[in-house]
Amino acid sequence: MSRQAAIAATVCAPPAVRSCQPCCNSALFVFQDHGNRGTMSLTSVTFDEAYFRDPHDFYRQIHDDGPVHRFETPSGVHGWLITGDPMARKVLTDPRIGKGRDTMLGVSSDDASAGFRQRLLRYGTEWMVTHMLGSDPPDHTRLRRAVADFFTPRAVAAMEPRIHALATGLIDSMDSAEPVDLVAALACPLPVAVICEITGIDSRHQQRIERSSAILSDVTVAEARQLRGASIDFARLILPYFAARRVRPKSDLITALTQQISTGEVNLKEALSTVALLLIAGHETTSNLILGTVLSLLRSPEETDRVLTEPDRLDAILDEALRADPPLPVATLRQAHTDLIIAGQRIRRGELLMVSLLAANQDPESTTDPDRFDPDRPARHLSFGTGIHYCLGARLARAEATAAISTLLHRYPHMQLATAPTELRWRRSLFFRRLEALPVRLT
Ligand code: HEM
Repeated sequence: MSRQAAIAATVCAPPAVRSCQPCCNSALFVFQDHGNRGTMSLTSVTFDEAYFRDPHDFYRQIHDDGPVHRFETPSGVHGWLITGDPMARKVLTDPRIGKGRDTMLGVSSDDASAGFRQRLLRYGTEWMVTHMLGSDPPDHTRLRRAVADFFTPRAVAAMEPRIHALATGLIDSMDSAEPVDLVAALACPLPVAVICEITGIDSRHQQRIERSSAILSDVTVAEARQLRGASIDFARLILPYFAARRVRPKSDLITALTQQISTGEVNLKEALSTVALLLIAGHETTSNLILGTVLSLLRSPEETDRVLTEPDRLDAILDEALRADPPLPVATLRQAHTDLIIAGQRIRRGELLMVSLLAANQDPESTTDPDRFDPDRPARHLSFGTGIHYCLGARLARAEATAAISTLLHRYPHMQLATAPTELRWRRSLFFRRLEALPVRLT
């Protein structure tokens, strides 16, 4: 199917056609209100393989109609989708827009009738979102400060030799005689191992973390029952570490949180939620960055040659890979704390806002020739977010990607894709963009 066909043609229809079947979790609907025509046009996108291979076309098309659009996902999450760069920055930094108790679950706190929220709460997932990314100040400030020391420039610099050793170990164990899947062999295990060491969780739980995190990372596509299973599994995994560190403290992040629980700075629910956030945020996105950058280099052998002779070039390539295909294509959901007018649209208090970082990075108003992969352009992307929720792990993610990619390229400079580019598949998630597999021939 062509990309154009994947984006269904705009259909003029009254709002009544908005109905989404709860069983179909494969489409996002974007409504564009052409009020003076008395009708609402409906652009719908099907989340099929073509969409995940290239969501850029979809966003480009809707952004042509303006930076603010209504959206609704079939799981019932609805609100406003923001696509332009200046508008995305405004929304992410406006103190009148922030988090409500259930915003991360895709529900406005003013939306009492939300069936989706009822389902999620019944399935006991709420503890998962009482962390910094689900909070406004002053809670946000307190919860971010509770773990910030583990992600300072100095802390990351101190970890770099260990990150290199972990990357080298994984690359050493690759069998160069066979095609290697870089997702399973490097891009997933490295960030999981690093975040396990920081938090203090045993990395033998790697596959369990990957499995549950894949479900928990996207409330718009996961089934409530699956969310419950994954949430219970995470709690069962993390909770015993708090008990163990109370008795026998170490120098890890869970020990630091245990001490803050005893002084009343954070409570156990917040501490559990923070560790879950770090386990998920600490690896899903970084895996995407490693894979996306390797794929860009495989497509551009001249850039690979430059990285081998000019190691600093990798920094610019990482930024361009982040801009071109952000690992987190949309920021986590926000809600309006008051009635607002954004780009002429009236947004009511309590309504949800979803900012497309991917669309903002491609906005032709702020990025010249956005489809061209150009590491020489100024790094001005939104892929780590902006404002108070700017990514806490940005520096760590860069250190991991640098260690993984530079070690791999120096060991295997002639590495090639071991499948046709059209065979590559992306995971079906609105929030995390990641290849299912990246098979390469190393030699
Ligand atoms: C390439 C890798 C990464 C990307 C692209 C990325 C992207 C982002 C983005 C866009 C946000 C803001 C979300 C929003 O405003 O809704 C964010 C927040 C966050 N990220 Fe990352 N992230 C990455 C790696 C990491 C790593 C390695 C960690 C930790 C180990 C991490 C921890 C966090 C945390 C804790 C927040 C919430 C900050 C707050 O609420 O104050 N991230 N990240």
